Amino acid sequence: MAKKLLLFLVFLSVCSPVFSQSDEFIFHGFKGVGNKISLDGFAEIEQNGILKLTNHTSGIMGHAFYSIPFKFKNTTNGKSFSFSTAFSFAIVPEYAKLGGHGFAFTIAKSKELKGALPRQFLGLLNASDNGNFANHVFAVEFDTVPDYDQLEDINGNHVGIDINSLVSNVSVKASYFSPGNSTKQELNLQSGNIVQAWVDYDSVSNVLNVTLSLSSSKPSVPILSFAVDLSPIFMEYMYVGFSASTGLLASSHYISGWSFKINGQAQSLDLSSLPSVPGSKKNNFPFVLVYCLSAAVFVALAIGMVLYMIKKIKSMDVIEPWELDIAPHRYSYEELKKATGGFKDTELIGFGGFGRVYKGTLPNTKAEVAVKRMNDGPKQGLREFISEIATIGRLRHRNLVQLLGWCRQRNDLLLVYDFMPNGSLDKYIFDEPKLILTWERRFKIIKGVASGLLYLHEEWEQTVIHRDIKAGNVLLDSELNGRLGDFGLAKLYEHGTNPSTTKVVGTLGYLAPELTKTGKPTKSSDVFAFGALLLEIVCGRKPIEVKALPEELILVDWVWDKWKAGAILEVVDSRLKGDYDEVEVIMVLKLGLMCSNNAPANRPSMKQVVSFLKGEVPLPEVVVAPDECGGKKFVTGQDTSTGVNKFLHSYLASSYIEKVGSWSSVYDSKRVVDLEAGSISTLSASYTDDSNCQLA
Ligand SMILES: *[C@@H]1O[C@H](CO)[C@@H](O)[C@H](O)[C@H]1NC(C)=O
Ligand SMILES: *[C@@H]1O[C@H](CO)[C@@H](O)[C@H](O)[C@H]1NC(C)=O
Ligand SMILES: *[C@@H]1O[C@H](CO)[C@@H](O)[C@H](O)[C@H]1NC(C)=O
Ligand SMILES: *[C@@H]1O[C@H](CO)[C@@H](O)[C@H](O)[C@H]1NC(C)=O
Ligand SMILES: *[C@@H]1O[C@H](CO)[C@@H](O)[C@H](O)[C@H]1NC(C)=O
Ligand SMILES: *[C@@H]1O[C@H](CO)[C@@H](O)[C@H](O)[C@H]1NC(C)=O
Repeated sequence: MAKKLLLFLVFLSVCSPVFSQSDEFIFHGFKGVGNKISLDGFAEIEQNGILKLTNHTSGIMGHAFYSIPFKFKNTTNGKSFSFSTAFSFAIVPEYAKLGGHGFAFTIAKSKELKGALPRQFLGLLNASDNGNFANHVFAVEFDTVPDYDQLEDINGNHVGIDINSLVSNVSVKASYFSPGNSTKQELNLQSGNIVQAWVDYDSVSNVLNVTLSLSSSKPSVPILSFAVDLSPIFMEYMYVGFSASTGLLASSHYISGWSFKINGQAQSLDLSSLPSVPGSKKNNFPFVLVYCLSAAVFVALAIGMVLYMIKKIKSMDVIEPWELDIAPHRYSYEELKKATGGFKDTELIGFGGFGRVYKGTLPNTKAEVAVKRMNDGPKQGLREFISEIATIGRLRHRNLVQLLGWCRQRNDLLLVYDFMPNGSLDKYIFDEPKLILTWERRFKIIKGVASGLLYLHEEWEQTVIHRDIKAGNVLLDSELNGRLGDFGLAKLYEHGTNPSTTKVVGTLGYLAPELTKTGKPTKSSDVFAFGALLLEIVCGRKPIEVKALPEELILVDWVWDKWKAGAILEVVDSRLKGDYDEVEVIMVLKLGLMCSNNAPANRPSMKQVVSFLKGEVPLPEVVVAPDECGGKKFVTGQDTSTGVNKFLHSYLASSYIEKVGSWSSVYDSKRVVDLEAGSISTLSASYTDDSNCQLA
């Protein structure tokens, strides 16, 4: 019997971690902590005892939790206890000032944080459970990359309190109070220096304080003081720990010491007794040793340099020093080759306007990516070209396909993007789609793409013209949300081309008429293409459909004719079988017509488009005819003589169209353009400066 009881007790102490729990701990470094700390993801304890949550790899996360949970309440529905914690951390960015994403002190119901994502989600939550009350996650985030759009961050260097959501309930620019000075001092989270933080919660007064300091002593004034009752967030038992993530930009996130206490004040840490941050230890090197070693190092360096030069000369994948300072991750060619199985044809997922797209799995992180290989890349203007990549890499919005990194291999340029499992929108709306998207879904995609484009046009620090908006460039993520891809590529591709010949890049049917004249893409020409996209999503067909009846050949003309005739609903995709919201459909068609106007001045801005779509502003009653400008219409002809469905297209009078030789050639000095109908190919046009159509 006694034996049985003993066994039972052993069983309890093994299986119920709570059984032998104290209510505080302190770690001066994590050397020899054994199984007291549970690590996952990229988290590891370095030899000197510092806890490293992430390293400089892009798009990863790391978790470290105290292995056994703490009792935070007497009963499930009871009042939470008070708690207090102090920890010292350092964030070392990959490139000076360019790191990401951040870390968070976390109290959660589980230490696995299943389904959590890296990047802006800090390894805590994902896009679908963000804000969910059932998460039971409390965090204090130390965030170094702003997400203004989705998570409403205040800047790229802030501390915030997160309750079940990464949209902070309250946040403040990273700062601290130094002793004897009541002025708040600024603090750069990613300076690489050790910072001590305290999080104190008093469950009687329901106040949570966050205090920061660069020293061992705790300032008397917190930088955040938030009135909150955490009882509903905490379950009876909760795990405490840290979560960190990296994104396109990466930082190493370190924790060098940590104390925690329930119902009491956690001990502050003595920073001088903690393990140092790797990389900063040079300061501690014994002076004599440095002196003795320096001669040897000098020789080694000299040899190394010679070897490096030889290797550099030999290597085709030449890295210029400044290229390393570029924000998006620079992948090695070998890494991408491995990821795509040597650019195998079986991994080919598409042909973009600029090259082939492969599916790949990054060898390090196992993340699925899309690798776009642009052959015949830049031959000149390399620095501008790379700075353009840096620009594109810093754009982030939930309706844009994120550029993760790049690689240059001689004249080839490889761009690495988030993988979009559901492919491009054109596969869902043209011909025989694999899945018929419901109207609700289509409307959501339209609104998403509109907000992505608005971000490019107005909401980012500089205006970005997309230049090639079309269904093939709208990609669907795992939840079938629309995301714009290929932004900035057209401009990027221009670098290195001869500036004296202006080439129009875009796709037939989406090209604004003034483009063939001025050759200069504008926000307004993007809006024109967006209009064509709106019409095709509603109508389920291409802007120019060779197989259609002659009067239906050009989508915008057909929609306009039906609009005038008061029979607009006849254009709606018959595959919807009448299952749609009439008011929304009519609004989108009307908006499509407004955007498709030949005169740029008659088109709305994306800001207006978004407010129309959100229903904030009603659409104007009267729609101006798309071809109002001097009666200049698309002039279209079809060549059937060759047996190939080649297509000819002009914005001017038919007299400009000459049928010379092959229809697939580009006509110089004529505003005439042709290309293979139906293909997603790039259109080049030349233009003359004569025009009898004064476009605004
Ligand atoms: C990051 O850590 C992983 C796993 O420990 C390792 O394979 C990788 O090389 C590290 N990356 C960098 C950039 O240090
Ligand atoms: C929890 O229970 C203990 C012992 O019964 C009691 O002293 C304490 O006040 C309770 N705490 C809360 C927050 O209810
Ligand atoms: C988000 O996380 C939850 C767990 O909190 C998980 O059940 C869900 O599958 C995740 N969603 C995605 C899209 O990963
Ligand atoms: C904190 O934010 C979450 C989600 O953003 C919200 O549900 C909750 O009510 C907020 N709590 C407080 C105390 O403001
Ligand atoms: C307090 O800090 C501010 C800002 O750093 C500084 O300008 C000021 O001189 C400091 N005052 C004292 C008394 O040290
Ligand atoms: C939080 O800060 C306020 C203001 O400094 C202070 O009065 C209060 O005692 C602090 N509470 C905790 C739990 O540290």
